[in-house]
Amino acid sequence: SSSASSPIDDFLRCLSGKIPAEQVFTQSSSGFMAELTSSVQNPRFVTNATVRPACIVAASDASHVQAAVRCGHRSGVRLRVRSGGHDYEGLSYRAVRAETFAVLDLAGLRAVRVRAGDATAWVDSGATLGELYYAVGTANPGFAFPGGACSTVGVGGYLSGGGIGLMMRKFGIGADNVLDAMIVNADGELLDRGRMGEDLFWAIRGGGGESFGVVVSWRLKLSMVPPTVAVFTIAKTAGDGGGGDAAALLAKWETLILQPFLPDLTIRVVLQGRTALFQCLYLGSGGCARLAATMRAYFPELGMTTSDCHDLTWLRAMAFISLGAADAPPEGMLRRTNNLGTYVKSKSDYVRRPMGAAAWSALFADHLASNNAGVLILEPHGGVVGAVIPDMATPYPHRAGVLYNIQYGVFWWGDAEGESSAAARRWLDALYAAMETAVSGNPREAFVNYRDLDIGENAVVGGVTEYESARRWGERYFMGNFRRLAAVKGRVDPGDYFRNEQSIPPLLQPY
Ligand code: FDA
Repeated sequence: SSSASSPIDDFLRCLSGKIPAEQVFTQSSSGFMAELTSSVQNPRFVTNATVRPACIVAASDASHVQAAVRCGHRSGVRLRVRSGGHDYEGLSYRAVRAETFAVLDLAGLRAVRVRAGDATAWVDSGATLGELYYAVGTANPGFAFPGGACSTVGVGGYLSGGGIGLMMRKFGIGADNVLDAMIVNADGELLDRGRMGEDLFWAIRGGGGESFGVVVSWRLKLSMVPPTVAVFTIAKTAGDGGGGDAAALLAKWETLILQPFLPDLTIRVVLQGRTALFQCLYLGSGGCARLAATMRAYFPELGMTTSDCHDLTWLRAMAFISLGAADAPPEGMLRRTNNLGTYVKSKSDYVRRPMGAAAWSALFADHLASNNAGVLILEPHGGVVGAVIPDMATPYPHRAGVLYNIQYGVFWWGDAEGESSAAARRWLDALYAAMETAVSGNPREAFVNYRDLDIGENAVVGGVTEYESARRWGERYFMGNFRRLAAVKGRVDPGDYFRNEQSIPPLLQPY
């Protein structure tokens, strides 16, 4: 290429003939902004100040991914890989610092192929969880997959970060159920599990997206569920006093997670304002009648009865959880939506000791009650995820002894940065500071799928991401698994082609 041409020109020239022209968008293409925002879930990262991609490549075939990586690597253009676009810091489609990059968008690579004979499925990264659930549940109502509560999340990012949800107490996290994968490495080679090797196969099942290559598709082990499962949602209010008070109920709820061992029963809790919403999925046989008896035995304080409960196929239960209504048609989970209206900032914690009723009361009084635009989601661990699968089985380390994950979210409207943003951030930061003594410490754990750049950003030294300083955020996401992830990165991508502000740094010395 001539010295006058830019890396992006070289990249585009290299792609021509390998990817249909209408699937490549430059900033001057009329469809650029629509393509860029197609799966964006947080308008904080599509403002005029945002560092945007120079171009977007919309892959619809594995060969397009290979071409994008080969051409990108050769011309010095880095790729940000995007599956479902839900990254909490927008790292799949924007950069924090000024840099020239392309987005490789996999939303068009979205097939789900269920093999009923051996209860497995191949799913492409660009499929959403809703599309996966729909294909799995319609192939056989007895099949399921342990995914998350939100149907628009992309399979690619979800599994890359481990993937937690209401079924992990029985079946493990999403990544525990991956049997094989196809990945395009930094040389543009398409590798299956056998060719990528067990260390890379380990790393991609929870080590976070972007760092190791582009995962094109995943082979999943499907779970078996009864013809119907049971769900309920019960709202309680803080400050009611007595046994029905949300704070007292939370104190009871957190003692149930590890003892007794009830993997069929999962109750997650969503806190907003003075309300605690107890959302239950029961995977045992016997449906609502059996669930009501179990609740009477273990958690009578919640006052759950069969009239709170719905017996639904697993697919309809996922629609109930994701869309919020018992009669929600599962087809609703096939809708791909973006969010360009509400700004969001999230953080996360893990809790290993019960907080107790007084601390819950204080949390409502001092923080939640004053801000209806703040939400806490408490996701119980225990069961199989906590007691059966070792902390080193996959990069996801928050297992033995973890009671629950807390996701903090705060919303605002108006401007990305301004008075309402500053007020929202002050509220979130005060809450996060107040929680420090109640949650895990040394390190204070965080969940990579709830990405938070407040905990640290990479430094690039001599063209490569530095290991030592990355430990600050990396050991909070991965604890003792961080060093092993860095060693895998050092083997498969020593030149650090695949990177972002929180990618795994290559560790080149032997470990
Ligand atoms: P996106 O496309 O933004 O990618 C996320 C990261 O992975 C980026 O760094 C990206 O570069 C990289 N990446 C994406 N595809 C890749 C691929 N094929 N190969 C390599 N790298 C890739 N999580 C959870 O565990 N349980 C839950 O219940 C929920 N619920 C939830 C609800 C809502 C409303 C949101 C916004 C998010 C969640 N999440 C969640 C978090 C979610 O799992 C996390 O944001 C995922 O990274 C999103 O995956 P996407 O593919 O949508 O993101």
